Amino acid sequence: MGKEFVCCSFLLLLCVSIAPGNVAPSHTEDDGVGVLRLPEQKQEGRSTSHMGMGMGMGMEEDDLLNPGAKVFATIKDIQVGKTMPIYFPYVDDPTSFQFLPKHKTHHIPLSSEQLPQLLRFFSFPPDSHQALAMEQTLKICEMEAPKGEVQGCFTSLESLVDFAQGIFGPDSQVGIVRSSMISKSTPLLQNYTVAESKEITTGKLIACHNEPYPYAVYYCHFQLGSVNKVLMVSLRGDNGDQVDAAFLCHMDTSTWSAGHIGFRLLRLKPGDSEICHFFPAYDMVVVP
Ligand SMILES: *[C@@H]1O[C@H](CO)[C@@H](O)[C@H](O)[C@H]1NC(C)=O
Repeated sequence: MGKEFVCCSFLLLLCVSIAPGNVAPSHTEDDGVGVLRLPEQKQEGRSTSHMGMGMGMGMEEDDLLNPGAKVFATIKDIQVGKTMPIYFPYVDDPTSFQFLPKHKTHHIPLSSEQLPQLLRFFSFPPDSHQALAMEQTLKICEMEAPKGEVQGCFTSLESLVDFAQGIFGPDSQVGIVRSSMISKSTPLLQNYTVAESKEITTGKLIACHNEPYPYAVYYCHFQLGSVNKVLMVSLRGDNGDQVDAAFLCHMDTSTWSAGHIGFRLLRLKPGDSEICHFFPAYDMVVVP
C-alpha cells in the first residue's frame, strides 16, 4: 500500500479526533482524569474485540446469545446488498483511545510492580474499579506471548510504528485501519446492509486492542505465519447511520478449536472457511 493509503488512514484518525459531539465529558467517577473507561463498559467491548483473536479462549454457551458476539461473518456474507445484524459498541469518549504524544507518557512505567505508585499518581483508590482495570491491563501487557505470536503493549504511535516495522520491515510504511464510530442514537445491535467492500491488504497484519487505562494503551499481537486479510466495509444501518468498518479475516482456521464462538455462530467447522470479524472503533488493524 502506498503513501496515499497511509495519508488516508491518518486522515481517518484525524477525523475521529475532531468528530463533533463525541467529545463528551467522561464519567464523573473518574476523578478529573476523565479518560479511563469504566470496566463494566469495557468488558462488553472486550468480549467483542478479543474474541475473534482468542482462538484458545473458552467461551460460554451464553455467548451465542450475547448481542456483542454478533461481529463474526465470512467473506461471502459481505457481498454488496447483503444484510445482517452486527453489533458495534458506542464510544462516548474517543479521546480515551487516541495515543498521547510520546513525551507525555514515556516516563510513566507500564508495570504491575509500580501499580501502587501509579494509583497514587492518578489518584485512584486501590480498591476502585479504575484500579482494578489498570491492574488487569498491566496483567495483559505482561502476559507471555502464546506460541507463534509476537505481542506488546504500546502507549505511543512511535513505539507502535517501531514494532510494526520490526515485523513488516524497517523501510515499510505503516498504515492504520479502524472502524468509524457509530452515533449515539444508533442501536448497538441492528441490521446493516453492505454498500461497498474493499480489500485493503492480505498478508502480515497486526491486530491492536485498546485496553482500559488512564491514557491510550494498545495490546497488539501478530501471529507468525498466519494469512490474514483486512477489508473496509461500508455498511448502511437500518436507522440510516453509515459505518465504515474494518473487517479482519483469518484465512486459515484449520488449527482453531472447534468450540470457537465464530464457528458456532456461523455453523462452521475448523478449516471450512475463513472466519472474519468486525472491529469496534476503539481497536485497530496495523498494515504495511
Ligand atoms: C434483522 O432482520 C431480520 C429479517 O428481517 C429480522 O428477523 C431481525 O429481527 C432483524 N434484526 C435486528 C437486530 O433488527
